[in-house]
Amino acid sequence: MPEHVVWHDVECGRYDADVALWRGLAAAAADVPGTLGPILDVGAGTGRITLDLARRGHEVVALDHDADLLAELRARARAEGLEVETIVADAGELALGRRDFALVMAPMQTVQLLRPAGRLGFLRGARAHVAPGGLVAIALVDVLDTFDDEHVLLPLPDQLVVDGALYSSQPVALRDHGATVAIERIRQVVTADGKRSASDDILHLDRVTLHEVEAEGRAAGLTPLPARIVDATEEHVGTSVVMLRG
Ligand SMILES: C[S@@+](CC[C@H](N)C(=O)[O-])C[C@H]1O[C@@H](n2cnc3c(N)ncnc32)[C@H](O)[C@@H]1O
Repeated sequence: MPEHVVWHDVECGRYDADVALWRGLAAAAADVPGTLGPILDVGAGTGRITLDLARRGHEVVALDHDADLLAELRARARAEGLEVETIVADAGELALGRRDFALVMAPMQTVQLLRPAGRLGFLRGARAHVAPGGLVAIALVDVLDTFDDEHVLLPLPDQLVVDGALYSSQPVALRDHGATVAIERIRQVVTADGKRSASDDILHLDRVTLHEVEAEGRAAGLTPLPARIVDATEEHVGTSVVMLRG
């Protein structure tokens, strides 16, 4: 498995506070009259949510711009005998030529990775691909008190053992860059024979509020519904989920 796929699993794979919400939305979307279409999981990664919903009988199309993540998702689906269509594409420029998705969803902070132009493109694309009456649901991590290693006790690292090697990703700072917040991490690997290596990683998340995305969604032709909340846990910040009707 390519190393960036392992890091994706290390840093995203253990999060489960939102699973009940996506299961509920998938079930609700399947109940909307005339929208018995599939679900589009945007920024699906290795399939944390896609595979969970596919196991529960939903037809899910997994979209990501990273072909390696989707290859791993397909391998996992095959291993479980699940059918999942995958599409390598940019979430900001959806052009799938169909408008039958009962639910277009973007879990975790995917939409905060798109920068404003990509986010507006995503909303227009979601509007063009969601079935009439279907749902568009967009998670936004609640931003985010900045910290660095001189000022607070750091969060616990995300860790995973793969092929005997320990992968550990330690958030060391959350810095304000104005329009974005940068999550700085130190990634360390200790192989089975004790070799150690370390590298830095920085991820920029857009600072954008629920109300801004609702307004952008309205401008794209979607209708805002009451937002949903995934509460913070000891390990993870909370998430607001923008809900828009197609
Ligand atoms: C935080 S991860 C979420 C993964 C998965 N949805 C989950 O909840 O575990 C963000 C995902 O969005 C994908 N992504 C980032 N920018 C993208 C873009 N412009 N188009 C499509 N996917 C993108 C990344 O490759 C990554 O898989």
